[in-house]
Amino acid sequence: MKKTKHVGFALRDLMIFLLLCNCVLLTEGFSVKKCYIYKDRADCSKQKLTNIPTDIPLSVKSIDLSQNRFTSIQVLNFTNFPNLTTLDLKRNFILNIGKRTFSQLPSLSVLILNTNKIVHLEDYVFDGLPKLTQLLLGFNRIQTVAPNTFRSLSSLKILELSKNQLQTIELFHAALQHMPQLKNLQIRNNRIKTFISKDLTNTSINITYLDLSENPLEKFVVTDAVFPKLSRLNLGRPTAKLHLTWAVQSQTVLENVTILELSEVRLASGDEWKRLFSSFNSLIFLKLNSMKYKLTSLMNMSCSMPTVSKLQLQSNKLTFISSSFFQKCHNVTDIDLEDNKITHIENGSFNILKLLEVLSIKRNRLQTVPFATRNLYSLRKLDLSFNLIRTLECQDFAKLTNLVQLNLQWNSLTALNKCSFNTLSKLEVLKLQGNSMTKLGGAFTKNLPSLKVLLLNNNKLTAIGKHEFRGLFSLLNLSLFENQIETLHESCFHGLKNLTFLQLQKNNLRKEALSNNCLRKLVKLTRLDLSNNHFKYWSSKNLTVPPFMNLSNLETLLFGVQRSKGKGVFPANFLQGLTKLSTFICNNIQLLSFPNDSFTYTPHLTNLDISANDLLDISPKLFSPIPKLEHLRINSINLHSLEFLINSNLTKLNELEARKNAFSVVSKDVIRSLPSLSVLDLKYNKFTCDCDNSWFVQWIKNNSQTEVVDAYNFTCSYPPESMNQKLLHLNTQSCILDVGFFCFISTAFTNILILVVTFTYHFSRFHLIYAYYIFLAWLFDSKNRQKRVEDQYDAFVSYNTHDEAWVYRELVPHLEKEQGWRLCLHHRDFLPGKPIVENIADAIYGSRKTICVISQRYLQSEWCSKEMQLASFRLFDERKDVLILVFLENIPSAHLSPYYRMKKILKKRTYLSWPRRSEQHLLFWEKLRQALGSTNTAEEDRLLLTVTQLT
Ligand SMILES: *[C@@H]1O[C@H](CO)[C@@H](O)[C@H](O)[C@H]1NC(C)=O
Ligand SMILES: *[C@@H]1O[C@H](CO)[C@@H](O)[C@H](O)[C@H]1NC(C)=O
Ligand SMILES: *[C@@H]1O[C@H](CO)[C@@H](O)[C@H](O)[C@H]1NC(C)=O
Ligand SMILES: *[C@@H]1O[C@H](CO)[C@@H](O)[C@H](O)[C@H]1NC(C)=O
Ligand SMILES: *[C@@H]1O[C@H](CO)[C@@H](O)[C@H](O)[C@H]1NC(C)=O
Repeated sequence: MKKTKHVGFALRDLMIFLLLCNCVLLTEGFSVKKCYIYKDRADCSKQKLTNIPTDIPLSVKSIDLSQNRFTSIQVLNFTNFPNLTTLDLKRNFILNIGKRTFSQLPSLSVLILNTNKIVHLEDYVFDGLPKLTQLLLGFNRIQTVAPNTFRSLSSLKILELSKNQLQTIELFHAALQHMPQLKNLQIRNNRIKTFISKDLTNTSINITYLDLSENPLEKFVVTDAVFPKLSRLNLGRPTAKLHLTWAVQSQTVLENVTILELSEVRLASGDEWKRLFSSFNSLIFLKLNSMKYKLTSLMNMSCSMPTVSKLQLQSNKLTFISSSFFQKCHNVTDIDLEDNKITHIENGSFNILKLLEVLSIKRNRLQTVPFATRNLYSLRKLDLSFNLIRTLECQDFAKLTNLVQLNLQWNSLTALNKCSFNTLSKLEVLKLQGNSMTKLGGAFTKNLPSLKVLLLNNNKLTAIGKHEFRGLFSLLNLSLFENQIETLHESCFHGLKNLTFLQLQKNNLRKEALSNNCLRKLVKLTRLDLSNNHFKYWSSKNLTVPPFMNLSNLETLLFGVQRSKGKGVFPANFLQGLTKLSTFICNNIQLLSFPNDSFTYTPHLTNLDISANDLLDISPKLFSPIPKLEHLRINSINLHSLEFLINSNLTKLNELEARKNAFSVVSKDVIRSLPSLSVLDLKYNKFTCDCDNSWFVQWIKNNSQTEVVDAYNFTCSYPPESMNQKLLHLNTQSCILDVGFFCFISTAFTNILILVVTFTYHFSRFHLIYAYYIFLAWLFDSKNRQKRVEDQYDAFVSYNTHDEAWVYRELVPHLEKEQGWRLCLHHRDFLPGKPIVENIADAIYGSRKTICVISQRYLQSEWCSKEMQLASFRLFDERKDVLILVFLENIPSAHLSPYYRMKKILKKRTYLSWPRRSEQHLLFWEKLRQALGSTNTAEEDRLLLTVTQLT
């Protein structure tokens, strides 16, 4: 069967070749130097560019040119991107921007120039940008701005000038008239000492947010109602340690300000503070972080403003909250005490806060849940994370029945209790990650009817017990990652009938943990993360209990990076039940192969990552059940060829990532078989730079549908004289000429040949294919006989991928580690980039012996036959006993009949069979050692070496 197919291929190749000769068809493919194009986005960041690339497709909507080395830009550099909306030029060295530089970008809406070296902005720099809404100029060195700089920005909403060297706001005086839409003016961290509203404008403007923080502000003067819409004002963290002079004329000019930040602001006296607070009458949210003035008096003043309901009091070095601290804060609903040093809160401190809904005491030094919080009946959110709490009392939260969110993460809790949360019937989010819990203590067996999110990751749980989450029937999201979970009780997830996300990554789970079908009740699950555990399967036979049998809603299964040692395989029905699965990630799980029917249960798979396994080869049949595949990642799997794609029928494949493999040629057929491909990523491969790749090179340069990521950096690793040259520098012209000439001469000849071959093939198909290989072998043999080299290896091992487990588990350790031979293994020692047949030839001629590991699969594999032919040629030629046959399975003589050459060798040669009984293994290794050690074995020795005879 297999052999007929080979000849079929050979014929087809020939036909295609002839077609190619007659008409050189070239279609679409492209690679932009120094940029990655993803759909309508061009990413040209971090390329050390000094000039704007000229080959960016004009249709893009965004260009990222950040982190390059531009120093000056002008209008010629950006021409004709009619649909460009975002241009990112941050982190360059731009000092000069010419007039109207961006005027050819009529659709531009976001322009990012942060972190450059701009000192001065000229007139008309931003002319021609009628649609610009965001202009970001932060982190430059801007000192001066010409009067007409911002003249035409009629749509601008956000102007960011933070972290520059502006000394005055007068420069905005004219500009603001032209920016009617401006909402957000950020001039944080400049050198502005005085803010006088008259300098800014004399008519009212529509700004809603003004950020003046981190300036050496001495004077704040607002005379008229110039900011009718201002709702957010930030004056915090002044950089001069001076008293601020506050001169706001009346209570009405800032009347619409609702959010005010005054962190670190200094005023001369308590009266000054009073005056300041009296300028506001709509204030809701007051930020008083890192204050230098007495916090208790500030508290009394600010809480006396009837509108204030939210207080942020971070980083104030509070160690203790006294019962009088909040005495005037009747109407406060929201208090944030994050990042103080609170160890104690006096009982009753919060009694006055009858309306309190949100309380954060995050990042303090509490060792227990304070008594003071027990009576906050209206509390909806309590944050006690990042403290030193060790235990929870039953009464801690018992009366907080309105609680919706409780944060206890990153404390020192070691266990929970049945009564810990049992009264919290409105609780929706409970965060307990980052503690040291070893037990859940039945805390979730009682009803928590509203709980939707439960985070238990980064604890020390080792097992999830019976009915552990029984009370959580509304739970949607359960996170258990980074624990040490080894066992999952058969009914541990019972009750979680609405769970959609389950995170179990980074635990110690092995395949036994799922063999009790513990996931079966999670019928609503859509995303399951089991990556970074110790799952490993040794047999590809069907599992008696497929672990995901009932998860018919699962869309994403993450199974990558399994950490247990040794190579594994994939049970054929592992994915049974996952009828909706669309994403399956199983990179780096030390997989040796996939059974062809692995994906028959997942017809909707669109996204597959099987990278970083030792697959070597993929069968086209693997993909036939998943024709909807759109994204495929096959990085680092030792692939020697991409030809499997030709018959995989992946017509929807949009992105293919095949980085770091061992193939060196990309053929036209491969590309043609992927009609929807828009991104092809073949980075870190080693290419053959000869005519084999000439079609590919032409296609990269000319096609307009598929972006070949980083193609300009593809390097040659073969032939030796082209080493390290760039693939795209390959001179394809000469290939086309040669081929054309050859075609001309040979068309007639090949046509006749086809007739002869077809005819012969019809009558003796088996012998024909062998004749072909023998011819090949003879070719290499005569080539190599001239250049004899010292034996590099003791033995070259020829085997089939399916027997790799045996080779790595048995053969390599015994022969290399115990007996000390140097072995050559194709997948470890072959030079990437070299044609495979040359690699084989070099391996055989560079080794004293060749060990063939023979199994049914080996006999069927075309590759191994080539190896065999070459080895036996060397054998006959040099009269040396180089071939050692190791039979892994008992192969009846009748099955060898198609391999008549093998039969012939067997009549005369040494062969060893891998004994089934382990007590005979010692003898086997000893015989193999002798066989490897012998130089010219005499006839009688040969017989002694035989462990078992084949019939
Ligand atoms: C912009 O264009 C000018 C004129 O073509 C050129 O000299 C300059 O190097 C270009 N600058 C960048 C950053 O590409
Ligand atoms: C810009 O967008 C319009 C409308 O979507 C489209 O017709 C036009 O071809 C685009 N221009 C370029 C250069 O891609
Ligand atoms: C404020 O916004 C309104 C509506 O967008 C606009 O008509 C008016 O001109 C703006 N005022 C200023 C001073 O820009
Ligand atoms: C505050 O906003 C209201 C409604 O937008 C407006 O009527 C009022 O004039 C504003 N106050 C000031 C001081 O401009
Ligand atoms: C609390 O708010 C009410 C109305 O919202 C107001 O009448 C009362 O004066 C406020 N109390 C304090 C202490 O600000």
